[in-house]
Amino acid sequence: MVCLGNICRSPLAEGILNKKLEERSLSWVVDSCGTANYHIGKAPDKRMIQTAAMYNTDISQLKARQFSLADFEKFDLIFTMDKNNFEDVQRLELDNEQRQKVRLLLNEWKPGLDLEVPDPYYGTKMDFINVYELLDEALDSVINNWDAKK
Ligand code: 4NP
Repeated sequence: MVCLGNICRSPLAEGILNKKLEERSLSWVVDSCGTANYHIGKAPDKRMIQTAAMYNTDISQLKARQFSLADFEKFDLIFTMDKNNFEDVQRLELDNEQRQKVRLLLNEWKPGLDLEVPDPYYGTKMDFINVYELLDEALDSVINNWDAKK
């Protein structure tokens, strides 16, 4: 799960997906990171921790890290939150197999529409709640789309 800072959207995506996988007794390896290096080592944004807690999702222990080429070795799928994140990863020198792994997350939920998870960083509490609701829907689709295929 990739966003810009790895303190708002992608740590929430990691937390929600892990919770859903546990509920379904699935054991995928999930992680999140940011394309930027601004927040390396920091906990998620307090507003996102609080929003997650409203839905009984605990992301308070996560720590931000930056995306790395080594992620292509570790992961089968790389989901980006918005088009900038997608392009930042696609801009790297990648082979075809690596390039295929990179996807816009919301296309799992609404295929082909190229919808984005909006960056809530400069937004209101409602923007954080909206991110939760979007990710909650989209991550059900991720599990439904990929569980049977693996
Ligand atoms: P995220 O949100 O990419 O969802 O973690 C942001 C966090 C920090 C900044 C931008 C977006 N920032 O500019 O510091």
